[in-house]
Amino acid sequence: MYSTMKLQLQQSYDRQARERDQFGKDHWKVAERALFLSTLREHHLNRLLEVGAGTGQDSVFFQEHGVVVTARDLSSEMIRLCRDKHLDARQMDIYNLDFPPNSFDAIWSMNCLLHVPKADLAEVLTGIRQVLRMEGVFYLGVYGGPDSEGIWEGDSCEPKRFFSFHTDESLQRAVAQHFRILCFRPVDYGHPLLHLQSLMLQKV
Ligand SMILES: C[S@@+](CC[C@H](N)C(=O)[O-])C[C@H]1O[C@@H](n2cnc3c(N)ncnc32)[C@H](O)[C@@H]1O
Repeated sequence: MYSTMKLQLQQSYDRQARERDQFGKDHWKVAERALFLSTLREHHLNRLLEVGAGTGQDSVFFQEHGVVVTARDLSSEMIRLCRDKHLDARQMDIYNLDFPPNSFDAIWSMNCLLHVPKADLAEVLTGIRQVLRMEGVFYLGVYGGPDSEGIWEGDSCEPKRFFSFHTDESLQRAVAQHFRILCFRPVDYGHPLLHLQSLMLQKV
């Protein structure tokens, strides 16, 4: 069943890609990635994988600051936009990260894992952990707060997308099975129900 939902996600993001490429970056997203860049520098981490890279705006930011970036996304249209920005970008599913173990010093994922059903989260986190080297850091940003999942019937995108939202406690419990939590912060972005769950994680 998730394969159908995944195909719908891919189609939905393919259709939105051009429009999303025109979006400016919210100030809180700019702050999140700036903070992550300072963590990369502090720990001398240079090989970065972005999963769910979208139009590649964050990957470009890190690349322009001297980081060696690999960008991956499910949507071929998103990947085309990433390549137009001279990124090393390829279509790839986070369920199947096709890299040798320990390939990256760091991983950045903003609002991609909110499309992973709760039942699959452990599998996806295991795959992410595998391609990250020991002591490497993983930034995970997802919207959440209320506990719910399913197709968002109010979605203005077509096909309507699947979302999985965790409570702060359940998300931390789930990731703690795979990573050390260096920092968890709820970030208010002005939504009445949701907030960004910002996690800095480490492979130990
Ligand atoms: C909400 S967008 C976020 C894009 C970008 N990270 C940003 O912050 O602008 C979610 C992205 O995750 C990608 N995505 C969703 N499911 C995926 C999967 N299973 N594997 C890889 N990418 C996926 C989508 O194609 C989309 O580009």
